[in-house]
Amino acid sequence: MTQHSDTPTPRTFTAAPALSGSVTVPGDKSISHRSLMLSALAIGESRVEGLLEGEDVLATAEAMRAMGATITRDDDGVWHIHGVGVGGLLQPETALDMGNSGTSTRLLMGLIASHDLTATFTGDASLSKRPMARVTEPLSRIGARFTGSPGANGNMTLPLTMKGACPAVPLDYTLPVASAQVKSAILLAGLNTPGITRVVEPIPTRDHSERMLKGFGADLNVEVQADGTRVITLVGEAELKPQNIVVPGDPSSAAFPMVAALLVPGSQVTIANVGLNGTRAGLIDLLREMGGSIEVVNAREVGGEPVGDLIVTASALNGVEPDPARAPSMIDEYPVAFIAAAFAEGRSVFRGLEELRVKESDRIATMAQGLRAIGVTVEELEDGIVIEGSGGKLLPGGGPIATKLDHRIAMSFAVAGLVSEHGVTIDDMRPVATSFPTFLPLLQTLGAVA
Ligand code: S3P
Repeated sequence: MTQHSDTPTPRTFTAAPALSGSVTVPGDKSISHRSLMLSALAIGESRVEGLLEGEDVLATAEAMRAMGATITRDDDGVWHIHGVGVGGLLQPETALDMGNSGTSTRLLMGLIASHDLTATFTGDASLSKRPMARVTEPLSRIGARFTGSPGANGNMTLPLTMKGACPAVPLDYTLPVASAQVKSAILLAGLNTPGITRVVEPIPTRDHSERMLKGFGADLNVEVQADGTRVITLVGEAELKPQNIVVPGDPSSAAFPMVAALLVPGSQVTIANVGLNGTRAGLIDLLREMGGSIEVVNAREVGGEPVGDLIVTASALNGVEPDPARAPSMIDEYPVAFIAAAFAEGRSVFRGLEELRVKESDRIATMAQGLRAIGVTVEELEDGIVIEGSGGKLLPGGGPIATKLDHRIAMSFAVAGLVSEHGVTIDDMRPVATSFPTFLPLLQTLGAVA
């Protein structure tokens, strides 16, 4: 699924004048993946507006086509999906190339687990290192079989071949790790499984799968217990009805212009149509606690998800020590939060972030290494990082930053470059195309120099 050129694309980002203007970010990646998968399982035509046309989502589209769905795109950017019905997925003729996308891989394993077909998953060097046992283990319990490659700590990795079970056995599973991907994989497997699939989630994670499954007509119930544990039940052998979906802007992409506007003195930026689902909005809360001015206007609901426009004004920030319990609500935003901390007044301590070590790169190590390379004092911890802020003084800068095929590392250090004395060079901007193909033009629209 890799569509980039064969050679790395380095780029230097330098100190920016005040950023200003109004921008929109591309569609939410998590919602885009789910909209293609569920539409492909509904009988009839679904329509998706605002789909993220990044490489990760296109990998999902390609996989759903390979398993029988008809997926087309109008010239005006609206996507049309003719689904095959729950249980109707076809045997893919070749291996499914997942590129860089962990979400595509893990959710599709769930879908396939309860279908009578065999599929092979391959991916790029980053994805091929990521642990898959977190999904293969529960999905084995419903009857699916997996043969993978040996990874670190005995974990199964790609390339991997799986054989689904039909009929599958319904699962009752308590998530051992706070992961929306694992939760979603199990729920998607439950769609074509007789009986009731139950997932217990002690720490809440993004709930797009639950919202969208209900929207497509699945019989799904969420009970929230007194201690916050969520118990999700899904009645299997579901029949999904085609939908018209409008995908809101991705808060994980909005995070980059948001932090840029807070850090570059004199900036004021509007980011329109940003998803504000509470399971995703942790960065906004954190930045506000640090002293950031972020105003939400025009709050509304789009496609069953809360959405608003953000007015972000440059602000002096203070260091923070966020409670690890809120990690899932901003799990993908830590790299850019570390950049905000590097420019804040005082020390920030981030802990409880073991999960960051198994993202597109080991985000604790990659960020620690990059921050040091641009002159920031950091201490890497097993489960987090301690960052000494510059108190609003330009960061020295430097590089090239090793982005390790990780889009969010590239974009985070691009933001750092906008508040650096000598500029920050990123070794390779190509991974940005996985989630935010318009990142560079968007920064340039706001007046950034790159
Ligand atoms: C995602 C869940 C998160 C997140 C990823 C997208 C999803 O992963 O990091 O970018 O769409 O469900 P985990 O479930 O591994 O935390």
